Amino acid sequence: MSDAQVSTGMNRTGAQMSPEDVQAQDEATRHFPADVPGDVGQYTEARQRAILDADPLGSVAPPGSTKGMLKNTFDKMLGKNPQVLLDKLGERLAFERAGVRLYEAMIAKATSAQGADPSLVSTLREIQAQELEHMNIVRDAIETLGADPTSVTPCADLVGVKAMGILQVLTDPRTTLSQSLSAILTIELEDNAAWSLLVELCNHGGHPMIADRFEQAQQQEEMHLTMIRGAVRQDLFEQLS
Ligand SMILES: [Fe+2]
Repeated sequence: MSDAQVSTGMNRTGAQMSPEDVQAQDEATRHFPADVPGDVGQYTEARQRAILDADPLGSVAPPGSTKGMLKNTFDKMLGKNPQVLLDKLGERLAFERAGVRLYEAMIAKATSAQGADPSLVSTLREIQAQELEHMNIVRDAIETLGADPTSVTPCADLVGVKAMGILQVLTDPRTTLSQSLSAILTIELEDNAAWSLLVELCNHGGHPMIADRFEQAQQQEEMHLTMIRGAVRQDLFEQLS
């Protein structure tokens, strides 16, 4: 039996404790309307106008562009719109690299948590080592296609932004083991879906050898998801029993 990781305390956030304040807040919304006038529909229209005006997140550097490789060579090597696959490969590379760091933060939680199962830390280390391996596999694949793995693709940029919330949860010294595991579960759910899609995209794009290597990573990702789901469950069940 282990202690609960969250404790009971005063209700500081619920409205039920302060009916007068709720009334005052209600009144305040009538006196001080939103800074931006309009309803949700107008917000959507404003967003649509901004989307039309916006530049894209970035672009994908074609393989060998620094050496002046011709576009038709690029096309032949990678099929139709090769930048789409390169963008997704860049995304996976960035995600796996971030994953190694996220697991390091997760391990700090697991080693500091009282009563944590010691086998959890070895599981986390094992997964972390595989995320690093996956990063290297993706880097090799990008190089095989003649592209530059150090180039940040638009989707690579995007996954960094998406992972920011997870990173904040894991590196916040106040978050518990359970809370951190749930953040890591989000990562593994995405990782799992992304790897199986990448295998399909590589096969579809005419790169069966790369797809074969990626399939091994995908199988390991399935194990990661199973292990993290199990850890989340076990950790909470122990607190409830
Ligand atoms: Fe993973």
